[in-house]
Amino acid sequence: MSIIKLLTKKLDRTIFTTPSHNQKAIFSQEYASFYKHDYSEIDGFDNLQNPVNSILMAQGKVSDILKTKQTFFSIQGATTAMLAAMKTLINPADRVLVARNCHKSVYNGLVLTAGMVDWFMPETDEKWGIYTIIDPKKLESTLELNQYKVFIMTSPTYEGINSNIQEISDICKKHDVYLIVDEAHGALYNFSDKLPKTAIEQGADVSVNSLHKTAGALNQTAILNVSSNIKNIHITSFQNSLNLFQTTSPSYPLLANIEACFNYLNSKEGRKEIDLLLLEIEKTKSELKRFGVEFYSEDNHDPTKILLRKDGISGFDLSDSLFNDFNIEDEMNNQNSCLYLTGIGTTKQKLEKLKNALKKIKTNPSFEFQNMDFQPYPIVKLQPVNAYNREYIYVNKNDSLLKISNKIIMPYPPGIGLLYPGEAIQKWHLNYLNNDVEIIA
Ligand SMILES: Cc1ncc(COP(=O)(O)O)c(C=O)c1O
Repeated sequence: MSIIKLLTKKLDRTIFTTPSHNQKAIFSQEYASFYKHDYSEIDGFDNLQNPVNSILMAQGKVSDILKTKQTFFSIQGATTAMLAAMKTLINPADRVLVARNCHKSVYNGLVLTAGMVDWFMPETDEKWGIYTIIDPKKLESTLELNQYKVFIMTSPTYEGINSNIQEISDICKKHDVYLIVDEAHGALYNFSDKLPKTAIEQGADVSVNSLHKTAGALNQTAILNVSSNIKNIHITSFQNSLNLFQTTSPSYPLLANIEACFNYLNSKEGRKEIDLLLLEIEKTKSELKRFGVEFYSEDNHDPTKILLRKDGISGFDLSDSLFNDFNIEDEMNNQNSCLYLTGIGTTKQKLEKLKNALKKIKTNPSFEFQNMDFQPYPIVKLQPVNAYNREYIYVNKNDSLLKISNKIIMPYPPGIGLLYPGEAIQKWHLNYLNNDVEIIA
């Protein structure tokens, strides 16, 4: 039986198990519907740590839809899915190549696996202030220098830039390197031919998707996908790794929500909804172009990530004005651009509101955009595992150059590190540091 049916079936049983709340809200009445289906692994319910029944079936259905060898459910986000992927493929001291624009979960994974990282710098777009693709040629030359076990990259990026995973996966295969793609923001890709192909379809060994970012599911829902072509690894290793990090008391409503999400995405209605959304976005953009709004629209761009800038106003001021004067909040902004995230649930009315507000934004004709600069190549003095939990002291910022940072500098969103513990402080970092700087003693 599906997880959804299992939860909605009336349970005529007296249960003395966790959770004690008896599926009733004793306090917090406003969350009564959360409690209604909140069970644990009672008799007849499946177990996320060793699924044999409804969870296995639901995972199998998603795996068939996504054409994976196996897909696992995570109720702790793409974050935990990524940790599990890394723990499966990386042993202590293995060399790992990681794109620098990866989410912080990848850094956490380096601490937990004791992998030895070399950072790979993605391409940048100074005009928009964003990281863009992984250049396959640069990747190939890097892989020729050292034997890495794994390459980890993000595609699409937070702003919707897609790399050519097919070419990258061919290069990784040639060099005997596992490819893990953080596809957290690409959960809709399988469901419209107007969107890029999935990372798994393009040859990645492993990918992770968040379902709460664009696919309409609840926070914390995500999946871990393993390719049928992955070599020399037993699929149960992924389950074992997930079991290291996932709770032993998973939320059944969240699991059912993952199942329902894929039922919807894969339905005629779901696919139609995605295509309609893409159409509405296209219409919004073409109208706004006449009002001095410019959209990021390279070939490899995911249109659901509306990245824009407007003549005569900085990204920061545009963001403030939309927030303060029109009550519209963006996903992220920088000096030159603002990002509006759309997906399942983004209505035509919502897009209209954004469109009408953007038309009315006051601008200053003498304002000029300036190209943005990006962090320098990191100087790793201590590997993440060795920099973790160290004794530290404070020094004045003026004396901190080339000292080893004990702190992370990480604007959130997007959760990409500018400086990690164990890395030398460079001149570029000084603007981001307080007067007293924590350095490793
Ligand atoms: C690129 C990327 N990967 C992974 C994550 C983590 O996803 P989750 O929130 O599902 O744990 C995020 C979240 O912001 C992200 O932007």
